[in-house]
Amino acid sequence: RIVYVHGDFVPEEQARIGLFDRGFLFGDAVYEVTAVIEGRMVDNDLHLARLERSLKALGIPLPQSLAQIVEVQSQLIARNALHEGAVYLQVSRGEADRDFLYSENMTPKLIGFTQAKTMVGTKTQRDGISVDLAADPRWQRRDIKTTMLLGQVMAKQAARARGFDDVWLVEDGLVTEGASSTAYVVTADGRILTRAASQATLPGCTQRALARLCAMHDVRIEERAFTPQEAQGAAEAFQTSATSLVMPVVRIADRVIGDGKPGPITRRLQALYLEAAG
Ligand code: PDD
Repeated sequence: RIVYVHGDFVPEEQARIGLFDRGFLFGDAVYEVTAVIEGRMVDNDLHLARLERSLKALGIPLPQSLAQIVEVQSQLIARNALHEGAVYLQVSRGEADRDFLYSENMTPKLIGFTQAKTMVGTKTQRDGISVDLAADPRWQRRDIKTTMLLGQVMAKQAARARGFDDVWLVEDGLVTEGASSTAYVVTADGRILTRAASQATLPGCTQRALARLCAMHDVRIEERAFTPQEAQGAAEAFQTSATSLVMPVVRIADRVIGDGKPGPITRRLQALYLEAAG
């Protein structure tokens, strides 16, 4: 693989980042994952806008212009002949001797790489996945896409150990989101629910794109939080992310959703999203 590190495209074996990079020492870095389908980036404008927003929230300057960042992404896709998968970007605050406090004039570091992955037409896209429910272990600014992901790592690993494909996180009696996705349920009377943007969740780019598509097709998505009990009793459930697109959820903890197969509304949104993305 050819990767990008601070200005250079190099084979991954030759990539070097500094020991004192604050991304490495403090998780003082933000990232974005953009889906690639048929060699083209999906919803990348939304990902770049969110990257800017995350950087701004942490007071990290944009390392290069957005146009230059898109060029880095495009080069990574081209040089690795990526057909389907994702392009990953990460910006750390930069390198300095270890100190919790940072100086205002640090040089941010940009890295990037591609990951090949089949996302369209997979067994899980067809049959759906199971998700466990677990207490949300994360900090209070989940709207910032930082590389500080140990809460998600532990929650996903524990869910996997219990035999689930993924996990939805719960706080104050409400589902916040998936560990790396946005959560949705469809109620018995056909209403699609997903949580409104706040500091409690990451504002999903796939969520935004799907909302726009639904508005164009007269499908209403209600922005309201739901309880784990509502989720488990839902007619349908699904999650969205750059790496899972629109993914049906057919089991939530100990409850099978609907008849255990992806429901018609989930199918429709899956098709709408793929048609727009592909
Ligand atoms: N994760 N919520 C969380 C906590 C996430 O980590 C993600 C994405 C999402 C969905 O966002 P989007 O639709 O913009 O991908 C929601 C990425 C894929 C990751 O960490 O790999």
